[in-house]
Amino acid sequence: MAILGIETTAHTASIGIVDEQARVLALVSDVYKPAAGGIHPREAANHHAEAFPALLERLAQEGKLHPSEIEGIAFSQGPGLGPCLRTGATVARVLSLAWKKPLIPVNHCVAHIEIARILSGMEDPILLYASGGNTQVVAFAHGRYRVLGETLDIGVGNFLDKLAIEMGGTFPGGPLIEKWALEGSRLLDLPYSVHGMDVSFSGLLTAAVAAHNSGVPRGDLAHSVQMTAFSMLCEVLERGLAHLGKSEVVLGGGVAANKVLRAMVEKMVAPRGVRAFAPPPSLCTDNGAMIAWTGLLALRNGITAEVEQSPVLPKERTDQVEVRWRLSPRWAPQKPIP
Ligand code: ATP
Ligand code: FE2
Repeated sequence: MAILGIETTAHTASIGIVDEQARVLALVSDVYKPAAGGIHPREAANHHAEAFPALLERLAQEGKLHPSEIEGIAFSQGPGLGPCLRTGATVARVLSLAWKKPLIPVNHCVAHIEIARILSGMEDPILLYASGGNTQVVAFAHGRYRVLGETLDIGVGNFLDKLAIEMGGTFPGGPLIEKWALEGSRLLDLPYSVHGMDVSFSGLLTAAVAAHNSGVPRGDLAHSVQMTAFSMLCEVLERGLAHLGKSEVVLGGGVAANKVLRAMVEKMVAPRGVRAFAPPPSLCTDNGAMIAWTGLLALRNGITAEVEQSPVLPKERTDQVEVRWRLSPRWAPQKPIP
């Protein structure tokens, strides 16, 4: 048996099907790309509404859609953009009613964490969750994923997206900045903003835009921005590791697809004898498979929602979610799957 997961918190409409061994049986996605500028919530929601029939059709044509083998329908309940969340929730409710399968609400941030954790085979890692809207250092304690530190303004991914657009690129900006950085090597002196366990990116954004406007070569700027922003993330991650005495790190969220960030984290943990892991890029960025996997953990531990009581929660935070599958679980994966 498997769970079908629906993801629509922001730009990505995605369906994943995952089984009890965390095998991804199917994963299809369609990403909304704004013609110019950042994401427009209503346009993105319209994109998703149009994308889902085709995504379901694709699964059927690939011979991967077998309702009798689907045990439940999981969906991203929040956090995210209201119109996008409501579109995905509607698709999930329809499938749940049509196929008579339980509906399972999933927190998107917790799903980024859980897919990284199961793929790593790690039991109790500290997590760097670095995506467009979120940037958090997280660890499990007393039944929840506790946010030890986070961005005080925008997520690191949003920072990269905004800067890339200022530099003439399009969304998503993170992969572009990563590519441009290969052209440069000079390290500019840019604002480095760490406050205890928290970070902030708005000062760095202002300075980077000013540097671009004053003619700094694209490669040098992209390289410097990555080194500065990712050093900030490594610093708070290392402080978290030191305080908690953990021996495992996982990375999650779209920015964890970045090779420079991965290499910097590797370099930071090596002397500590700590192991680090990041999922493959397709499972770092938003995807239905992580929702399906977390939905399976939830369902097996008695978490479902009635269709009439399945609101989307655009502002739900990581630490608001009871992680019942880690606190006296009724069901847990047989063994971690590396
Ligand atoms: P969340 O709701 O978790 O904040 P999200 O909607 O931002 O998620 P994700 O797919 O988790 O979506 O992350 C998207 C972000 O990841 C974008 O900001 C994008 O620029 C960034 N990103 C993707 N690939 C890379 C990369 N190779 N390097 C840097 N950033 C990247
Ligand atoms: Fe995400």
